Amino acid sequence: MKAKRLLTGAVLGALALLAATAASATGNAQAGSAKSMFCAGCHGVDGNVAYISARLAGQSTQRFHDGLLAFKAGRRFHPVMNILSVGLTEQDTQDMAMFYAGQKPLELKDASLFWRLGGHDAIGAAVDETIKLSRADPRLAGRLSGGCATKLKEQLCAATGGPCNYTGRDMKSAHAGLAVTEAEFGAVGENLVKVLDAFKVPDREKSELLGLIMPFKGQIVGQ
Ligand code: HEC
Repeated sequence: MKAKRLLTGAVLGALALLAATAASATGNAQAGSAKSMFCAGCHGVDGNVAYISARLAGQSTQRFHDGLLAFKAGRRFHPVMNILSVGLTEQDTQDMAMFYAGQKPLELKDASLFWRLGGHDAIGAAVDETIKLSRADPRLAGRLSGGCATKLKEQLCAATGGPCNYTGRDMKSAHAGLAVTEAEFGAVGENLVKVLDAFKVPDREKSELLGLIMPFKGQIVGQ
């Protein structure tokens, strides 16, 4: 038994060592720290600023890398990030990925609702899931096209303090002639809550989000 535990320990140790060398072979946190000075103005010296930009502290190297690549390839838009990312080499990205992955993420409680909810990816997934659930919901049969997903994500991003401008129509004209009923509005709301619960969104964020959506009811129902 003891030998087995020792053996497991040795194997785990070897694996950890392998993982460490594999990671440091691609990125150097110290070099990344120096390079990250260009980023500190918006992301904070340790990548913990989450009011105006995405939190980088503690991000996995993979996510950091994919995030920068998305800006570089133009799949994500932010005027500064698009320009800055183009100037970064693969080595720069790997070095900074190592640096930020090693920074301790501090409390998120003062960040805008957008970042507390998890930013673009989490909000986008919640919108997609809510639309999927609602399209399969017999109470809403054929009432939701799903074509509004992009605008809805943009609107929620802007409303929760994220880095987006809402470019769609106001809620009243967007729903004109649709005769959305109170019950239908309620059904979508219920589906949203189901999704937020499934995503384990904490109560504070859940009620803040619902508090932002509820005032639109009068402009959506009965138009
Ligand atoms: C002028 C402000 C500004 C500067 C300078 C800046 N960023 Fe950003 N960065 C942002 C904003 C705002 C976002 C979020 C944009 C969005 O999601 O639309 C962002 C997002 C990111 C993301 C995606 C994070 C995620 O979780 O989605 C990465 C990675 C990133 N920045 C890395 C960097 C690096 C590395 C530098 C320095 C070379 C840098 N940024 C400099 C403002 C800035």
